[in-house]
Amino acid sequence: LQNWVLMVTAQTPTNIAVIKYWGKRDETLILPVNDSISVTLDPEHLCTTTTVAVSPSFENDRMWLNGKEISLSGGRFQNCLREIRCRANSVDDEDKGIHIKKEDWDRLHVHIASYNNFPTAAGLASSAAGFACLVFSLAKLMNLKEDQGALSAIARQGSGSACRSLYGGFVKWVMGNDDNGSDSIAVQLANEAHWDDLVIIIAVVSSQQKETSSTTGMRESVETSALLHHRAQEVVPKRILQMEEAIRTHDFPSFARLTCADSNQFHAVCLDTCPPIFYMNDTSHRIISYVEKWNRSAGTPQVAYTFDAGPNAVLIARNREVASLMLQRLLFYFPPPPATELTSYVLGDKSILKD
Ligand code: PMV
Repeated sequence: LQNWVLMVTAQTPTNIAVIKYWGKRDETLILPVNDSISVTLDPEHLCTTTTVAVSPSFENDRMWLNGKEISLSGGRFQNCLREIRCRANSVDDEDKGIHIKKEDWDRLHVHIASYNNFPTAAGLASSAAGFACLVFSLAKLMNLKEDQGALSAIARQGSGSACRSLYGGFVKWVMGNDDNGSDSIAVQLANEAHWDDLVIIIAVVSSQQKETSSTTGMRESVETSALLHHRAQEVVPKRILQMEEAIRTHDFPSFARLTCADSNQFHAVCLDTCPPIFYMNDTSHRIISYVEKWNRSAGTPQVAYTFDAGPNAVLIARNREVASLMLQRLLFYFPPPPATELTSYVLGDKSILKD
């Protein structure tokens, strides 16, 4: 029987780092120069949905992203596909009469269709959700027996930050020591129920694709920024411990101070890079000033901000009341045009997504 198709669909949310990963010590295996910590978003809003299918009638591995075919020839896709294929197991689906032997996977091809429900490559960690979902769905299709940690090490080879999206809640990517990367994996620090007072608001300042990819940016920072090396050796190890404690004890003031300071240091490293990299824009800077003023006048932090490799703001409010106040204030500072919805509207030329 040559005309069967076996499919798996999975959904993976993106994650936002509160202690940033920036810089690789091995570019092929994607091994970082420091540990990082992130929070995984609610799957409803910023996520990738991927369907993977296998059939004897497929002649090549192929992939479509947001409905457009993209090449799978890049090293990162190939590394993930190879790592998954070599761990594939037999699959028996009695109902459909499908029996795939372990060795069959070497000659069977897969088709992959992936959709992001948010702008791709605009500093909203689309590659994180994308590679995590790709690895997870292929692992299900090919019946891998590996645990989440081992899968995270495969997703890491697609995009570093993707390893953290395999878990919900708060996640640490341990940089590891091994040259082969086997101990550079993600671990869950706390699940999604642990600190559910927090509300994350993403202000999409621009949905344009970023000018400097994180790969190029990191390479240039590692080669030219003295601040990057100081940060990786002296600053991040202490911050990781402090952040773990803040998360464990629900200490919002410490959580917010560390998150903002780490975002600012990451962007300082970008400025310290030669040539300098500018990911934030004037709107991003206005949002920072506004949050800083609010936190100072309140006497204790109410909101944390963090920015990845793009101008979009990720704002973390200590609770729902603060979040709705912040949304009202953002609307006051960046009035939307008429006839827009409350949960998705525009900041200047820009929209806000509310978690
Ligand atoms: O995994 P990449 O190559 O998309 O790099 C992500 C880097 C940052 O988003 C800026 C920081 C992080 O830890 O996610």
